[in-house]
Order: sequence, then C-alpha cells, then structure tokens
Amino acid sequence: MICSLSLAWILPFAFLLLVTAYPVLAQSQGVYEHYEVYDADFFPPSEYAARRKLALSKIESGAGMLVRNGDVRNRSNDVDYEFRQRNNLLYLTGITETQSALLLLPNGIEIEGKSVREILFVAERNPSHEIWEGIRMGPKVAATITGISTVLSYEELPEILDEVVPELDKLYYDNWLFGVITEPIVGEEIDWPGMMLMMMAEDGIKIEVVQAGEILDGMRAIKSEAEIEMMKKAVEISAEGHREAMRYARPGMAEYELEALMEYTFHRLGAEEPGYPSIVGAGPNTCILHYNTNRRKSQDGDLVLMDCGAEYHGYSADITRTFPVNGKFTPEQRAIYDLVLKAQNAAIKECASGVQFFEPHRKAARIIAEGLVQLGIMEFGDDVRTYFMHGTSHFLGMDVHDVSDSYVLTPGMVLTVEPGIYIAEGSDCDPKWWNIGVRIEDDILVTEEGSINLSAGLEKTASEIEKLVGSKNK
Ligand code: GLY
Ligand code: MN
Ligand code: MN
Repeated sequence: MICSLSLAWILPFAFLLLVTAYPVLAQSQGVYEHYEVYDADFFPPSEYAARRKLALSKIESGAGMLVRNGDVRNRSNDVDYEFRQRNNLLYLTGITETQSALLLLPNGIEIEGKSVREILFVAERNPSHEIWEGIRMGPKVAATITGISTVLSYEELPEILDEVVPELDKLYYDNWLFGVITEPIVGEEIDWPGMMLMMMAEDGIKIEVVQAGEILDGMRAIKSEAEIEMMKKAVEISAEGHREAMRYARPGMAEYELEALMEYTFHRLGAEEPGYPSIVGAGPNTCILHYNTNRRKSQDGDLVLMDCGAEYHGYSADITRTFPVNGKFTPEQRAIYDLVLKAQNAAIKECASGVQFFEPHRKAARIIAEGLVQLGIMEFGDDVRTYFMHGTSHFLGMDVHDVSDSYVLTPGMVLTVEPGIYIAEGSDCDPKWWNIGVRIEDDILVTEEGSINLSAGLEKTASEIEKLVGSKNK
C-alpha cells in the first residue's frame, strides 16, 4: 500500500507517466476510449434499461427516486475497505464506481430543452486522481455503458436536487439511514432521518421520504433469466471452491488454510470476492453459527463446517458443506449428518411456486425434532430450537440475505435451504454428541414447475463427502 502522503512529490512524475502511458491505454481499450471493461459478461444496457423502465412505472406521478452510491468505509487511518457498490444502484445501472447516483422522475424534468426521466451522475475524469485510483468512466462512457442518455457530473447532484426535490411530494430514497443511533459523546439518541426531514422542513420542503426498497425489493426478488445465469455462475464457482477445500483437507490443517483454498478458487474462477465473510469452523467452532475468525488448527476427529459463497458480478451464492477432516465420519457425526441431510432434502422438496416461505422450515424442524428425540439427544420435540436455533431459508441474490416484498414463493425467486444441528460442549445430552455442528445449505430456484437446486452438483451425501475429503492427499 502506497501512503497517500507521498502524493505531493510524485505528482510531476505521475503526470509524465500518464502522458506516456496514454497511447498504450487508448490502443488496448477499443470501444470505450480510455475506459476498459475487462469482463465481457456483464449485463447488456438493455437489461438495466428494462429494470429502470419497470421502476419508473411503479413510481407515482409527482414522486421521484434517488439511488446513491455505497459509502467508502474507513478501515484504519488512511486505508479504506475495498469499495463495493450499493446493490440498488448496481441493479439499476451496473455502475461500480463511487460518487455515482441515479435519479428517476416519472414526470421528467427539462434539461437542455429535453424532458428526461432518468439522470445518472458519475465522477468526471480526473487524471491526477486516476493515477492513484484507476481510470474512471466519466459521463460520456457511462452513457454508452448504461444506456442512460443524460449523464451529469456527480458534482451537479446537489444543484439538481435543489431544483427537483421541492417539486416532489414523495421521494423514494436509497442509502439513507433509517433508525436512531445512540451517540456516546453526547449520550443521546440521534434520529438521523428525523433530522434530515426537519432540515428540509426548515427550508420549506414538505416531502414524504420512504425507502427505495419499497419498489426495488419486490423487483430484485424475482430474478430475470440473465440474473439466473449470473447466479448459476456464482454457484458453480462456489461449488468448485468447496470441492477444492475438501480435496486437500487433512487433520492439522488450519481453518484459514481451508479458507484460502476456497477463496483462491473463487478468485481463480473469476469471482470478484466472497459474498460474505467465509465461515470455516473446525471441531467446537462448527457450533458457532456465523463463526469467521478461522484461526483454529483442525484436529483428527474434527468435523469442519464451511459456509462460503462467491460473489460474481454482484450476485452471491451461499453454500454450506460439513465434513470430517480425516475423511471418515464417526458414528455420532454420521447420525447427525444423515439427520440434517434428511431434513434438508425434505425441505427442498417443499420449495414450489405458491408455497409459503416458512413451509420448508416447518418441514425441516419437524424432521430434526423427531430425529433428535429418537437419538436420545432430546426428550421432547418442542425443544428443537436448543439445537437448531436458526431459520431454514432466506432469499438469495445480490445480497446474501436478499430482499423481497413477499413471503409467497414465486417463480424467479432464489432461496437457501440450510437446516442444521449444533451440539455445543456442555449441552444437556450424552457428551459423545458434543462439538458436533452440521449445516448443509443449497441454493434453490423457484420455477413454474417446482424448483431447481442450483448447487445440486456439489457432493452432499455422507459417502460422497468421505470419498472427496483428502482425495488430493492420497
Ligand atoms: N452464509 C450465511 C447464511 O447462511 O445465512
Ligand atoms: Mn444462508
Ligand atoms: Mn450460508
């Protein structure tokens, strides 16, 4: 990491570098002048245009929608976390840059003599910034890539909002903080949305502000054919990551080594990043639902639970497999594994168009409750939450826990099915069951004719898992 304090002395050299590098860049880029799109399989502008058209049709006359870029978050001192675009903006434009926003106005506003209903704002090209941060697309290229004909500089956003917002009676706004924060310095609660509305009211602006999600959540829940293809790619990459980790697993391997095998595969196959922090727990850590410290060295006899999913072009997979690190389940591990698998298979069968979201969970919970009683781990089935303390499903898409406006399964929805049993040390049962944590998770697409398990290709039965684990060490 280069320290930005060195910016001052390097500037003259950097400028020279830019001047000399320019012809090479210009030659290798082709269609987008100086700006290179490295992946040819992003959605075409028509996909984003169709989404914006639908959103515009849902915004009432007299209302508008403002969708802003995600925040650059500070990691420490002068280093930020890697930037990830906010999903609603990515969904409507495909723009991955900071300092970008989209304004949708069904009634339109006049700009340069034309009535426009969609305005995109992006950062202007800026050679001295680009030396540090890479080439920005700038308004001209952004227009080509997104299919939005009116693209203004991000710096013009406040001015345009000054003009537009007082005329609206409702604003769908993304990236505004809902809720109240307790500020430790003043020791009081600060209501940010309330403050914003108060400041607007002081300027004589009376407007209803609601979450853009009120319109976009329902749209994002139903995946288009192109989105389903993108999700299949994320799932395929993730499945290969799981296989790779299992192939090389052996007792003594640290959780972070397994994580490295997984994430190496994600990157090797073109995923930008994991869709969420990889959960890699060995032994007792299998019983921590969202464990991601990933520092323990596995021991012979441990189970390993890996809940990891790649993000590909903005879409996340979410897959869990649990395996014995030495390649052989103990009888107790196998009994729990088979019970979770039975519950998972039954829950997957429940996923169909028209079914209530919670039905797969009900099914899985019933099977696990009965099984735990039969194994003598619990006396009564109604204690099932002691060992299965989470829901079976969530929606999946651009967010790993994706948005939706409906809990009726509908064609085009993708959801996870992921029952689990977690018997932590000290649990009220025979100690032979302690430190067994098993979760099995697949990604299910709801269709007109039932459902498709997108991750069905990844090894899952106990014997398939035993065959795979350590196979590259032999
Ligand atoms: N990967 C987190 C979850 O399964 O919800
Ligand atoms: Mn999940
Ligand atoms: Mn998961």
